[in-house]
Amino acid sequence: MKSIAIIGAGYVGLVTATCFAELGNDVVCVDNNAAKVAGLEAGEIPFYEPSLAEMVTRNTQAKRLGFTTDISAAVRRAEVIFIAVGTPMRSDGHADLSAVRAVAREIGLALDGPKIVVSKSTVPVETGEMISSIIREHAPGDYAVSVVSNPEFLREGSAVSDFLKPDRVVVGCSDATAEAAMRDLYAPLDAPLVVTDVRTSEMIKYAANAFLATKISFINEIANICELLDVDVRAVCAGIGYDQRIGTKFLNPGIGYGGSCFPKDVRALEQLAVERDYPAPLLHSVELVNRRQVERTVMKFERELGGLNGKTIAVLGLAFKPNTDDVRDAPAIAIIQRLLDRGAKVRAHDPIANAAAAQVLGPNVALHDTMYDAVEGADALLLATEWNEFRSLDFTRCAKAMRGDLILDGRNIFEPEKVRAAGLRYLGVGRVKLRGKGSVVYETPVSYSATQS
Ligand code: NAD
Ligand code: UDX
Repeated sequence: MKSIAIIGAGYVGLVTATCFAELGNDVVCVDNNAAKVAGLEAGEIPFYEPSLAEMVTRNTQAKRLGFTTDISAAVRRAEVIFIAVGTPMRSDGHADLSAVRAVAREIGLALDGPKIVVSKSTVPVETGEMISSIIREHAPGDYAVSVVSNPEFLREGSAVSDFLKPDRVVVGCSDATAEAAMRDLYAPLDAPLVVTDVRTSEMIKYAANAFLATKISFINEIANICELLDVDVRAVCAGIGYDQRIGTKFLNPGIGYGGSCFPKDVRALEQLAVERDYPAPLLHSVELVNRRQVERTVMKFERELGGLNGKTIAVLGLAFKPNTDDVRDAPAIAIIQRLLDRGAKVRAHDPIANAAAAQVLGPNVALHDTMYDAVEGADALLLATEWNEFRSLDFTRCAKAMRGDLILDGRNIFEPEKVRAAGLRYLGVGRVKLRGKGSVVYETPVSYSATQS
């Protein structure tokens, strides 16, 4: 049992705090957002994450988990301090480390003895060294501080099970005491442990996300080519995915990857390379293909509807993926903004993310409580996020409710025959031949991020 402080009560911080408490440790989770901490103390989870609420309640009741805004007190009582604050993308593509720096300074000021400080935030190579020197600069005495890198690989929507059953745990550290403490902490998970130095560990996190993003952009590009050749990309995915060197996972074409990690992490890694005079052409292309996937979706509507001005599009799904209410860098939001720019009206529904989307989109988009309300009077429908409840969409009911007849399945979850049987037209990603040539809108300059966090 260890005494742990987790700084940052976001997706990563709160899940980490709760899971370490669940494993029997004594955990306090710190956030500088007083409203968030007050909510957590009252049992309110600040975001939607399956099975997290029950686990938070269980562990707060068992007094293994607490919340505070008092970082100094939390630092003083802890043996191990995790930094889990945000590292969003700056406008120049670099990771914004201001929250990490601020936390390192506060840890330094609060120091009253030896500590292990662990960076769980996704940070560029060399950040561990920066954290170490900021802490030393502000510490009131010459205390032994080990800075460890322990990147997190959980996915939103399955965060708790990902944390408790990881494929591997990566620990970057430079001394035996810190390594032993990290081994102890993670021993109950019985997961493979990759122990390395801090810089390598920082790089591992970026390389993992960049690889997964590359796989998605690769299959999106293949899907786009399939559309021009009248080949069904799903069969191509099966045909290549069964090769174990390729694998079937993360091979689903769609409207592009989004979320708070892939877009910013690919950019940050590219920037790390660029500032060292390596242009990282592959990473650049991964990101370019992803942006164009959004443009291509808008282009499909424009072509099929003969222009967008005055047309009404119903969008099902706003979160960047199912089982989360996170709309950060969600492709659905980027597509909606472009549809609005081109004069279309948008009606939308997400089972969980309507409120979060309303904050980003403002009053220009009508957000509805049910999927069938959203499709009412629409000229076309976009399936943007593959929530399970959309899989059983009643196409006959849609056909009656809609003014037009186009279904654009941005995640390839519908059977084209069923859509067509209801008298509707079906367009997926890489499943049906696209009319005309496929690259017309590519000269349009596009801003990188729709919803920078
Ligand atoms: P988040 O934005 O959801 O949460 C960050 C929290 O830190 C917020 O609650 C914020 O109020 C708090 N905070 C900011 N500055 C603070 C300070 N000075 N003192 C105390 N609290 C402060 O972020 P997140 O999604 O949890 O991501 C955190 C880090 O983990 C990022 O580096 C991210 O790239 C990485 N990561 C995220 C995921 C994911 O799925 N979201 C997965 C793996 C890694
Ligand atoms: C990702 C990483 O998977 C996780 O390891 C890391 O810790 C944080 O970043 P997350 O952003 O929660 O997790 O979601 P993920 O499931 O990876 O999906 C990211 C995006 O890729 C989503 O927009 C999703 O729709 C898209 N995606 C995923 C595809 O378009 N096709 C796929 O085959 C898989």
